[in-house]
Amino acid sequence: MEKTKTNESGFTETAQKAADWIAERDDFHVIGHFDADGLTSIGIIGQTLFRLGKKFESKAIKQLYADELDGIEKQNIIFLDLGSGQINTIREKLKGKNILILDHHTPEETGSAKTGNSESGSSKDESESIKSEPESEILEFNPHMFGIDGGTEISGAGMSFFVASRFGFNDLSALAIVGAAGDMQDYSHARLVGKNREILDIAKKEKVLEYKNDLRLYGRMSRPILQMLVYSTDPVLPNLTADEKNSLYFLEKLCIPLKTRDGEWRTYSGLEPSEKKALVSALINHCIANNLSRYKMKFLIGEVYELLLEEPGSPLRDAKEFATILNSCGRNNKPDIGIRLCMGERDQAYKEALLMWAKHKTALRTGIEFIQATGIQEKKNYLLIDGKDRISESIIGIIAGMLYSSNNIPHNKPIFALACDGSEKLKISARGNRDLVFKGLDLSAAMKTACEKVDGEGGGHKIAAGAKINAAKKDEFFKVIDEVMKQQMTAQGK
Ligand code: C5P
Ligand code: C5P
Ligand code: ZN
Repeated sequence: MEKTKTNESGFTETAQKAADWIAERDDFHVIGHFDADGLTSIGIIGQTLFRLGKKFESKAIKQLYADELDGIEKQNIIFLDLGSGQINTIREKLKGKNILILDHHTPEETGSAKTGNSESGSSKDESESIKSEPESEILEFNPHMFGIDGGTEISGAGMSFFVASRFGFNDLSALAIVGAAGDMQDYSHARLVGKNREILDIAKKEKVLEYKNDLRLYGRMSRPILQMLVYSTDPVLPNLTADEKNSLYFLEKLCIPLKTRDGEWRTYSGLEPSEKKALVSALINHCIANNLSRYKMKFLIGEVYELLLEEPGSPLRDAKEFATILNSCGRNNKPDIGIRLCMGERDQAYKEALLMWAKHKTALRTGIEFIQATGIQEKKNYLLIDGKDRISESIIGIIAGMLYSSNNIPHNKPIFALACDGSEKLKISARGNRDLVFKGLDLSAAMKTACEKVDGEGGGHKIAAGAKINAAKKDEFFKVIDEVMKQQMTAQGK
């Protein structure tokens, strides 16, 4: 992928402008996205406002559709992990308000008639990046304006952190890493890259987080070892994933007791160092012997992120598991519990979050089983799965991502997933991969183009995007998608 020059000084100056904007005001309405990245963003800015002694109220929402902006009374509004894709709507609906947007989504082309200033290009002069217009006073801080990729190099929580950092609140860096992990920004390279690495270094210096190379399998903190193997999709472990008998045999050969003396299931994080070593080398040997590609091997052993201020053994100690817990709160319509966790509460909020997590796991399992039963449709230029009204629109994107990362699915085209929660609206989630993005795939642009044709709302990142349209316009929408996919993957192919 072409890399435009980054404008570091512009980035820092705008972070400072955003911090000044906050310092000069009081009494804020904070609106963030309801996923892990959005909730950690709210935690970072919420803790910042709290420490500064500012008044604020916060809310997490599924998506910034136009009607979310009705009835906001406060004068100062902060958008977190959303807003850049809806700037025209914000400008129209919130006339006369003071607005700060800290986001990493691909910015919307601002209507040329309105401003004549498009921020979709990357290496803009920094003065152009800050839009202060008399009627709406919008200050937007978005990495794309400085040649930094918001899909892989920094998350919404990262953008929020660089503002918090101007006040010296560097301990909040740990939450920013949870946000990045939640957005799977460590996925393409099996480690965090770009601005996220700067945050990692700050977090390490602050002693709030440690990163090291270790087994990367999901559930290192919380899943019984056997389950960690059986449910691994990233990578799929040959002859172990989905094969409980063989996984059990594999562990028995290593003489690692699966339970403690008290009968509790042991997790990877609870193993003795010598046991960890034995398990890791046996897994490496097993995967090599079973021809797992070197590329996939990177996902087996790679960087993991540990939050040092969380209790040892707590799932919150692992950035990925913390992120999943936050996602569970949002996707179960209890984002407030996630916000409380991100504000530092660990008692009641944590207990409730664990319940949400259990529900979330069941919903994902049921959803995946539904798709396995109904099948994946292979179209010429994309794959399609349909969750109908059986998979909630709030998890259809996660399910699409999980299925896409498992074996037996062609990776030479992106996947689109549908969910229709009973209304006449259809939710569409799309996921791609790094190689396709390299070839020219831009799901965010595709969603926007198709939405324009059918009067829907959509956007996101090159590698992952979403949209909502009228269900009756589905065929029309996919006609455009088919065309755009074909164009993107042939025209720009390198
Ligand atoms: O709204 P937001 O930007 O926070 O969401 C990003 C979405 O993109 C997440 O659902 C994340 O799982 C997805 N993603 C992905 N693969 C990547 C990067 C992001 O599926 N490589
Ligand atoms: O909802 P889903 O997980 O599929 O979202 C993938 C990405 O697309 C996220 O970054 C999300 O914020 C974005 N999105 C968007 N507009 C929508 C739906 C999703 O920008 N209408
Ligand atoms: Zn995000």
